[in-house]
Amino acid sequence: MIQLSFVKHQVIFFRDQSLNPHDVLKFASLFGKPVEYPFAAGLPDCPLVTEITKAEHETINFGGEWHSDTTYLEVPPRATILYAKQVPESGGDTLFADTYRAFEDLSDGMKLMLGRLRAVNTAGLLPREKRDGYAAMTGKNVDKLSMNATHPVVRTHPESLRRSLYINETHTSHFEGMTRDESWPLISYLSQQTIRPEICFRLQWTPGTLTMWDNRCTQHYAINDYHGSRRTMYRVIVEGERPI
Ligand code: SIN
Repeated sequence: MIQLSFVKHQVIFFRDQSLNPHDVLKFASLFGKPVEYPFAAGLPDCPLVTEITKAEHETINFGGEWHSDTTYLEVPPRATILYAKQVPESGGDTLFADTYRAFEDLSDGMKLMLGRLRAVNTAGLLPREKRDGYAAMTGKNVDKLSMNATHPVVRTHPESLRRSLYINETHTSHFEGMTRDESWPLISYLSQQTIRPEICFRLQWTPGTLTMWDNRCTQHYAINDYHGSRRTMYRVIVEGERPI
């Protein structure tokens, strides 16, 4: 039932849960194999769960840019599960964009052209300041610059069989066989199409909200509007499949 809702709605959430990291991991395991997130240390007694905290004194938040998770890996995660342990009184929402609609709303000519393209995704596009901030926040400092993967620009969801746009302005560097300068205007145009308010959903977290999103057909953006407050989440990713 939950699996069907997940495939249908792309982002699902449950309010007022009271969970520890082991419970969150158990929930994630119902949907596939939880895997290690390459850039964040797991909790000592539950290594597949990462605690992501933005403390009162910090200004950089984790995930504060439009992206789908780790598209610079050969096999990016199918799902991400996030549990709100502590959230600010106001702010700290997460935006989600529907990348099926982003593709479906394009013209037939554009769909045809994009269907033939592949794109290079890299972790190295994030500005230095953010990479350092993430390393401090997540307790793991990995050489992100060397992580690259080439994926189809349009991918087909293995369960819904719908096609979605699989590029994002945070990690997609260029189209295969083209320069960054040649590629960027189209990547930027497609990114703007993807984040139109009409095809976005805004999740307001409350303590105990458990959310699962499908990285194969959504992008997300964690809004950084709560300086001075603390936000702590438990995060688990579930192994995906090679995009086709
Ligand atoms: C992320 O996984 O990108 C972070 C999302 C969030 O904290 O809202």
